[in-house]
Amino acid sequence: MKKLVFLTGAGMSAESGISTFRDSGGLWEKYPVEAVASIEGYNRNPELVQNFYNMRRTELKKVTPNEGHKLVACLEKDYDVTVITQNVDDLHERAGSHHIIHLHGELMKATSSRHPNDPNCIITLPEDNPIIHMGDKAKDGSQLRPFIVWFGESVPMIEPAAKEVEKADILVVIGTSLNVYPAAGLLNFTNSHCKIYLIDPQNVPYNPNLGILHIMKGASEGMKELCEILNPR
Ligand code: APR
Repeated sequence: MKKLVFLTGAGMSAESGISTFRDSGGLWEKYPVEAVASIEGYNRNPELVQNFYNMRRTELKKVTPNEGHKLVACLEKDYDVTVITQNVDDLHERAGSHHIIHLHGELMKATSSRHPNDPNCIITLPEDNPIIHMGDKAKDGSQLRPFIVWFGESVPMIEPAAKEVEKADILVVIGTSLNVYPAAGLLNFTNSHCKIYLIDPQNVPYNPNLGILHIMKGASEGMKELCEILNPR
């Protein structure tokens, strides 16, 4: 089976009703990124940050995977598929994908403020009440915090992700502005025979030497076109 790797960003979930970050009307227009998505912001005002993620979890419960997520999962029938996502939502999981690397954490999980990457401290929040309160403690006794990789923090999953990209026969990049590193740098780990597709309705800055085929459509329509290219029947 050929190895097919997806690298997805906020645009993957836009058609499910989750705002992207940098488009007009995006999340970072409404909330200052340094206040709610940086380690400095959390240390300054943890309550504000907890409330922001509590709200996002409540929103996540109301949305469902879109056709794009479903087609990504469907390709597991014919390909050895790995999904590397910058998204913290669980829509790839809910669409049925089995091999998912979350680069920037997972909204439905919580962890220790002292050792955020200690696997012993990471818990899944209850689905019916996925709220973290100030005073809730992680296993090591520190304040429970969202299991999110904030600006200013290391990205431990980048190495396993780069290993997957190195082995890819096909890499498909969907709905990311490729603004944020190290995630955006993953494209440089492709081997010389890897074919790269990009699905995004807008222009995205990428290295023209990579020979990328840009399908200029949204995630659902773009995935339909990609399936026709990959599996012509
Ligand atoms: N289908 C596909 N792509 C879309 C759609 C759609 N329906 N709508 C918008 N897009 C594209 C935009 O054109 C843009 O290129 O999705 C991209 C969204 O870019 P960003 O908002 O910058 O999101 P992303 O690249 O995922 O951000 C990376 O930055 O804020 C941090 O940690 C956060 O994981 C996030 C990281």
